[in-house]
Amino acid sequence: MRLKNKVAIVTGGASGIGAATCRLYAQEGATGIVVADINEEGGRSVVDNIVQAGGEAIFVHLDVSEESQWIDTVNTTVARYDRLDITVNNAGMSVAESRVKVEDTTIEIWDRLHAVNSTGVFLGTKHSISPMRENGSGSIINISSIYGIVGSTGTTAYHSAKGSVRTFTKAAAIQYAPDLIRCNSVHPGFADTGMTAAVHADPEEWNKRVSQTPIGRMGTAEDIAWGCVFLGSDESSFMTGAELVIDGGMTAQ
Ligand SMILES: NC(=O)c1ccc[n+]([C@@H]2O[C@H](COP(=O)([O-])OP(=O)(O)OC[C@H]3O[C@@H](n4cnc5c(N)ncnc54)[C@H](O)[C@@H]3O)[C@@H](O)[C@H]2O)c1
Repeated sequence: MRLKNKVAIVTGGASGIGAATCRLYAQEGATGIVVADINEEGGRSVVDNIVQAGGEAIFVHLDVSEESQWIDTVNTTVARYDRLDITVNNAGMSVAESRVKVEDTTIEIWDRLHAVNSTGVFLGTKHSISPMRENGSGSIINISSIYGIVGSTGTTAYHSAKGSVRTFTKAAAIQYAPDLIRCNSVHPGFADTGMTAAVHADPEEWNKRVSQTPIGRMGTAEDIAWGCVFLGSDESSFMTGAELVIDGGMTAQ
Protein backbone atom coordinates (compact mmCIF):
# COMPACT_ATOMS: atom_id res chain seq x y z
CA MET A 1 0.00 0.00 0.00
CA ARG A 2 2.79 2.38 -0.92
CA LEU A 3 0.40 4.63 -2.90
CA LYS A 4 -2.56 4.64 -0.53
CA ASN A 5 -4.87 7.66 -1.03
CA LYS A 6 -3.03 8.79 -4.16
CA VAL A 7 -4.62 9.66 -7.51
CA ALA A 8 -2.54 9.25 -10.66
CA ILE A 9 -2.71 10.00 -14.37
CA VAL A 10 -0.60 7.58 -16.44
CA THR A 11 -0.20 8.49 -20.11
CA GLY A 12 0.43 5.67 -22.53
CA GLY A 13 -1.32 3.54 -19.91
CA ALA A 14 -2.76 1.13 -22.48
CA SER A 15 0.43 -0.81 -23.16
CA GLY A 16 3.92 -1.76 -21.98
CA ILE A 17 5.50 0.30 -19.20
CA GLY A 18 2.39 2.47 -18.78
CA ALA A 19 0.06 -0.52 -18.40
CA ALA A 20 2.44 -2.17 -15.92
CA THR A 21 2.61 1.10 -13.96
CA CYS A 22 -1.21 1.29 -13.82
CA ARG A 23 -1.43 -2.30 -12.54
CA LEU A 24 1.26 -1.77 -9.87
CA TYR A 25 -0.29 1.54 -8.81
CA ALA A 26 -3.61 -0.27 -8.26
CA GLN A 27 -1.83 -3.07 -6.38
CA GLU A 28 -0.11 -0.46 -4.17
CA GLY A 29 -3.43 1.07 -3.15
CA ALA A 30 -3.85 4.13 -5.40
CA THR A 31 -7.36 5.57 -4.89
CA GLY A 32 -7.85 6.35 -8.56
CA ILE A 33 -5.89 5.73 -11.74
CA VAL A 34 -6.57 7.59 -14.97
CA VAL A 35 -5.39 5.44 -17.86
CA ALA A 36 -4.81 8.03 -20.59
CA ASP A 37 -4.00 6.93 -24.12
CA ILE A 38 -4.95 7.14 -27.80
CA ASN A 39 -5.39 3.35 -27.74
CA GLU A 40 -8.95 3.07 -26.44
CA GLU A 41 -9.25 -0.73 -26.62
CA GLY A 42 -5.98 -1.37 -24.80
CA GLY A 43 -6.71 1.33 -22.23
CA ARG A 44 -10.19 0.02 -21.45
CA SER A 45 -8.79 -3.48 -21.03
CA VAL A 46 -6.24 -2.20 -18.46
CA VAL A 47 -9.08 -0.43 -16.61
CA ASP A 48 -11.24 -3.60 -16.66
CA ASN A 49 -8.40 -5.68 -15.20
CA ILE A 50 -7.84 -3.17 -12.40
CA VAL A 51 -11.54 -2.89 -11.57
CA GLN A 52 -12.00 -6.69 -11.63
CA ALA A 53 -9.16 -6.97 -9.12
CA GLY A 54 -10.98 -4.53 -6.81
CA GLY A 55 -9.15 -1.33 -7.82
CA GLU A 56 -10.43 1.98 -9.14
CA ALA A 57 -9.53 3.28 -12.60
CA ILE A 58 -11.03 5.12 -15.57
CA PHE A 59 -9.99 5.44 -19.19
CA VAL A 60 -9.58 8.86 -20.79
CA HIS A 61 -8.80 9.38 -24.46
CA LEU A 62 -5.72 11.61 -24.58
CA ASP A 63 -3.35 12.51 -27.36
CA VAL A 64 -0.53 13.96 -25.26
CA SER A 65 0.51 16.37 -28.01
CA GLU A 66 -2.88 18.18 -27.86
CA GLU A 67 -3.13 20.83 -25.13
CA SER A 68 -6.94 20.98 -25.14
CA GLN A 69 -7.08 17.22 -24.46
CA TRP A 70 -4.69 17.64 -21.53
CA ILE A 71 -6.97 20.30 -20.02
CA ASP A 72 -9.94 17.92 -20.37
CA THR A 73 -7.98 15.01 -18.85
CA VAL A 74 -6.90 16.96 -15.77
CA ASN A 75 -10.43 18.38 -15.33
CA THR A 76 -11.93 14.87 -15.61
CA THR A 77 -9.43 13.54 -13.05
CA VAL A 78 -10.16 16.24 -10.49
CA ALA A 79 -13.94 16.02 -11.08
CA ARG A 80 -13.88 12.26 -10.54
CA TYR A 81 -11.29 11.87 -7.76
CA ASP A 82 -11.09 15.37 -6.28
CA ARG A 83 -7.30 15.59 -6.51
CA LEU A 84 -4.17 14.77 -8.49
CA ASP A 85 -1.05 13.44 -6.76
CA ILE A 86 1.00 11.76 -9.50
CA THR A 87 1.37 12.28 -13.24
CA VAL A 88 3.41 9.72 -15.15
CA ASN A 89 4.27 11.26 -18.52
CA ASN A 90 5.02 7.91 -20.11
CA ALA A 91 3.42 8.02 -23.59
CA GLY A 92 6.06 7.82 -26.27
CA MET A 93 6.66 6.59 -29.76
CA SER A 94 9.27 5.54 -32.25
CA VAL A 95 8.65 4.22 -35.76
CA ALA A 96 10.82 2.55 -38.38
CA GLU A 97 11.18 5.89 -40.24
CA SER A 98 12.59 7.52 -37.10
CA ARG A 99 15.22 4.87 -36.49
CA VAL A 100 17.61 6.48 -38.96
CA LYS A 101 20.65 8.75 -39.03
CA VAL A 102 20.57 12.57 -39.10
CA GLU A 103 20.75 12.86 -42.91
CA ASP A 104 17.85 10.46 -43.38
CA THR A 105 15.56 12.09 -40.79
CA THR A 106 12.70 14.02 -42.39
CA ILE A 107 11.31 17.18 -40.83
CA GLU A 108 7.90 15.46 -40.53
CA ILE A 109 9.36 12.61 -38.47
CA TRP A 110 11.44 15.04 -36.41
CA ASP A 111 8.34 17.13 -35.59
CA ARG A 112 6.10 14.14 -34.81
CA LEU A 113 8.66 12.50 -32.51
CA HIS A 114 9.12 15.78 -30.64
CA ALA A 115 5.36 16.46 -30.47
CA VAL A 116 4.68 13.18 -28.66
CA ASN A 117 7.92 12.45 -26.77
CA SER A 118 8.83 15.99 -25.76
CA THR A 119 5.88 18.42 -26.10
CA GLY A 120 3.61 15.76 -24.57
CA VAL A 121 5.78 15.74 -21.44
CA PHE A 122 5.83 19.54 -21.26
CA LEU A 123 2.03 19.74 -21.54
CA GLY A 124 1.49 16.98 -18.97
CA THR A 125 3.78 18.75 -16.53
CA LYS A 126 2.26 22.17 -17.21
CA HIS A 127 -1.32 21.09 -16.56
CA SER A 128 -0.51 18.98 -13.49
CA ILE A 129 0.99 21.87 -11.52
CA SER A 130 -2.20 23.67 -10.53
CA PRO A 131 -4.08 20.70 -8.93
CA MET A 132 -0.86 19.48 -7.28
CA ARG A 133 -0.19 22.92 -5.83
CA GLU A 134 -3.71 22.87 -4.44
CA ASN A 135 -2.89 19.52 -2.75
CA GLY A 136 0.28 20.94 -1.24
CA SER A 137 2.44 18.33 -2.99
CA GLY A 138 2.77 16.11 -6.04
CA SER A 139 5.06 13.89 -8.07
CA ILE A 140 5.62 14.23 -11.82
CA ILE A 141 7.45 11.32 -13.42
CA ASN A 142 8.77 11.89 -16.93
CA ILE A 143 9.79 8.83 -18.90
CA SER A 144 12.89 9.57 -20.92
CA SER A 145 15.26 6.79 -22.03
CA ILE A 146 18.90 5.80 -21.89
CA TYR A 147 18.71 7.34 -25.38
CA GLY A 148 18.10 10.65 -23.58
CA ILE A 149 21.56 10.28 -22.03
CA VAL A 150 23.77 8.62 -24.65
CA GLY A 151 23.80 8.43 -28.45
CA SER A 152 23.46 5.48 -30.83
CA THR A 153 23.88 4.75 -34.52
CA GLY A 154 20.30 5.83 -35.40
CA THR A 155 16.99 7.09 -33.93
CA THR A 156 18.07 10.72 -34.29
CA ALA A 157 14.82 12.53 -33.42
CA TYR A 158 14.11 10.15 -30.52
CA HIS A 159 17.49 10.98 -28.91
CA SER A 160 16.76 14.68 -29.21
CA ALA A 161 13.23 14.45 -27.81
CA LYS A 162 14.26 12.17 -24.92
CA GLY A 163 17.27 14.38 -24.15
CA SER A 164 14.94 17.36 -23.85
CA VAL A 165 12.80 15.45 -21.34
CA ARG A 166 15.88 14.97 -19.18
CA THR A 167 16.76 18.67 -18.80
CA PHE A 168 13.17 19.95 -18.95
CA THR A 169 12.50 17.76 -15.91
CA LYS A 170 15.32 19.40 -13.96
CA ALA A 171 14.00 22.89 -14.86
CA ALA A 172 10.50 21.98 -13.66
CA ALA A 173 11.97 20.38 -10.51
CA ILE A 174 13.77 23.58 -9.56
CA GLN A 175 10.79 25.80 -10.36
CA TYR A 176 8.27 23.82 -8.31
CA ALA A 177 10.36 22.46 -5.44
CA PRO A 178 9.06 25.30 -3.19
CA ASP A 179 5.53 23.94 -3.84
CA LEU A 180 6.74 20.42 -2.90
CA ILE A 181 5.94 19.27 -6.42
CA ARG A 182 8.69 16.84 -7.34
CA CYS A 183 9.73 16.14 -10.90
CA ASN A 184 12.06 13.29 -11.84
CA SER A 185 12.99 11.52 -15.06
CA VAL A 186 13.16 7.77 -15.60
CA HIS A 187 15.59 6.31 -18.13
CA PRO A 188 14.67 2.79 -19.19
CA GLY A 189 17.17 0.62 -20.99
CA PHE A 190 16.10 -2.03 -23.49
CA ALA A 191 12.73 -3.43 -22.45
CA ASP A 192 10.34 -5.76 -24.25
CA THR A 193 7.10 -3.83 -24.91
CA GLY A 194 4.79 -2.89 -27.77
CA MET A 195 7.21 -0.20 -28.91
CA THR A 196 10.14 -2.58 -29.26
CA ALA A 197 8.20 -5.62 -30.54
CA ALA A 198 9.12 -5.08 -34.20
CA VAL A 199 12.82 -4.59 -33.47
CA HIS A 200 12.92 -7.49 -31.00
CA ALA A 201 11.27 -9.83 -33.50
CA ASP A 202 14.68 -9.93 -35.16
CA PRO A 203 16.70 -12.47 -33.07
CA GLU A 204 19.96 -10.79 -34.06
CA GLU A 205 18.77 -7.45 -32.68
CA TRP A 206 17.38 -9.12 -29.52
CA ASN A 207 20.69 -10.89 -28.87
CA LYS A 208 22.68 -7.72 -29.56
CA ARG A 209 20.62 -5.77 -27.01
CA VAL A 210 20.90 -8.51 -24.38
CA SER A 211 24.65 -8.77 -24.91
CA GLN A 212 24.97 -4.96 -24.47
CA THR A 213 23.19 -5.25 -21.11
CA PRO A 214 25.53 -6.30 -18.25
CA ILE A 215 22.69 -7.90 -16.24
CA GLY A 216 22.39 -10.27 -19.21
CA ARG A 217 18.68 -10.17 -19.94
CA MET A 218 16.08 -8.03 -21.66
CA GLY A 219 14.22 -5.60 -19.38
CA THR A 220 10.50 -5.97 -18.69
CA ALA A 221 7.78 -3.34 -18.38
CA GLU A 222 7.56 -4.18 -14.65
CA ASP A 223 11.28 -3.49 -14.15
CA ILE A 224 10.59 0.11 -15.12
CA ALA A 225 7.15 0.36 -13.49
CA TRP A 226 8.61 -0.40 -10.03
CA GLY A 227 10.74 2.74 -10.42
CA CYS A 228 7.52 4.68 -11.08
CA VAL A 229 6.02 3.21 -7.88
CA PHE A 230 9.00 4.47 -5.89
CA LEU A 231 8.96 7.94 -7.45
CA GLY A 232 5.19 8.23 -6.99
CA SER A 233 5.36 7.22 -3.33
CA ASP A 234 6.39 9.28 -0.30
CA GLU A 235 9.48 7.05 -0.01
CA SER A 236 11.08 9.39 -2.59
CA SER A 237 9.95 12.64 -0.93
CA PHE A 238 13.52 14.08 -0.85
CA MET A 239 14.11 13.27 -4.52
CA THR A 240 13.56 15.85 -7.25
CA GLY A 241 15.37 16.74 -10.47
CA ALA A 242 16.96 13.30 -10.45
CA GLU A 243 17.49 10.72 -13.17
CA LEU A 244 16.45 7.18 -12.32
CA VAL A 245 18.30 4.92 -14.74
CA ILE A 246 16.83 1.41 -14.98
CA ASP A 247 18.89 -0.28 -17.66
CA GLY A 248 20.56 -3.43 -16.36
CA GLY A 249 23.87 -1.55 -16.27
CA MET A 250 23.87 -0.60 -19.96
CA THR A 251 24.99 3.02 -19.50
CA ALA A 252 27.36 2.31 -16.62
CA GLN A 253 29.89 0.86 -19.05
N1 LIG B 1 10.62 -0.30 -24.34
C1 LIG B 1 11.81 0.24 -24.27
O1 LIG B 1 12.82 -0.42 -24.53
C2 LIG B 1 11.95 1.68 -23.85
C3 LIG B 1 13.23 2.14 -23.60
C4 LIG B 1 13.40 3.47 -23.22
C5 LIG B 1 12.31 4.30 -23.07
N2 LIG B 1 11.07 3.83 -23.35
C6 LIG B 1 9.95 4.76 -23.18
O2 LIG B 1 8.98 4.19 -22.34
C7 LIG B 1 7.71 4.78 -22.63
C8 LIG B 1 6.66 3.68 -22.76
O3 LIG B 1 6.94 2.93 -23.92
P1 LIG B 1 6.69 1.36 -24.03
O4 LIG B 1 8.00 0.76 -24.28
O5 LIG B 1 5.88 0.89 -22.90
O6 LIG B 1 5.90 1.31 -25.42
P2 LIG B 1 4.42 0.87 -25.80
O7 LIG B 1 4.34 1.10 -27.27
O8 LIG B 1 4.13 -0.47 -25.28
O9 LIG B 1 3.51 1.93 -25.04
C9 LIG B 1 3.44 3.27 -25.44
C10 LIG B 1 2.01 3.75 -25.24
O10 LIG B 1 1.97 5.14 -25.57
C11 LIG B 1 0.77 5.37 -26.30
N3 LIG B 1 0.91 6.57 -27.13
C12 LIG B 1 1.66 6.74 -28.25
N4 LIG B 1 1.47 7.97 -28.74
C13 LIG B 1 0.58 8.59 -27.91
C14 LIG B 1 -0.01 9.88 -27.89
N5 LIG B 1 0.25 10.78 -28.84
N6 LIG B 1 -0.84 10.18 -26.89
C15 LIG B 1 -1.15 9.27 -25.92
N7 LIG B 1 -0.64 8.03 -25.90
C16 LIG B 1 0.21 7.70 -26.89
C17 LIG B 1 0.59 4.11 -27.15
O11 LIG B 1 -0.74 3.98 -27.61
C18 LIG B 1 0.99 3.03 -26.15
O12 LIG B 1 -0.10 2.59 -25.39
C19 LIG B 1 7.91 5.62 -23.90
O13 LIG B 1 8.04 6.97 -23.55
C20 LIG B 1 9.21 5.08 -24.46
O14 LIG B 1 9.85 6.01 -25.26
C21 LIG B 1 10.86 2.54 -23.72
